[in-house]
Amino acid sequence: MKIALGSDHVGRELKLKLMEWFDEIGIEYKDFGAYTFDRCNYPEFGYPAAKAVADKEFDRGIVICGTGVGISLSANKVKGIRCVCCSEPYSALLSRQHNDTNMLAMGSRVVGFDLAKMIVKMWLEGEYEGGRHQVRVDQISKIENTGSL
Ligand code: RB5
Repeated sequence: MKIALGSDHVGRELKLKLMEWFDEIGIEYKDFGAYTFDRCNYPEFGYPAAKAVADKEFDRGIVICGTGVGISLSANKVKGIRCVCCSEPYSALLSRQHNDTNMLAMGSRVVGFDLAKMIVKMWLEGEYEGGRHQVRVDQISKIENTGSL
């Protein structure tokens, strides 16, 4: 499991803590920035992380900004990305099982490190169930690819 990481300046602290935790538990990742705490723009880091996932260079992506909203919207503009913006583990798990999400966004002003770890754990462990959900995921792709349903 290789994870593409991205954050803005606000999300960077939580991202660094998650990186330390990934080192401890042996999860491979690449940080696509931000690399400093200087004020910056979340699409500049959400986009490259999402592009790396869409291009299949990474299995999944995790992106963090203040609320998770801006960076999730940026990731979701990349074709093939289904990014869930999430602040609790239940939706994180269901987003994998039902929606086959390939990216997770969180808000560093919304969740603390311990909750973020629970969210990430559920999201990483959740397996897509396919079946009836595939029709719906295919419909999302159709809207993305053709601009209509
Ligand atoms: C930056 O102040 C903030 O707007 C950003 O981190 C994020 O919350 C946007 O959605």
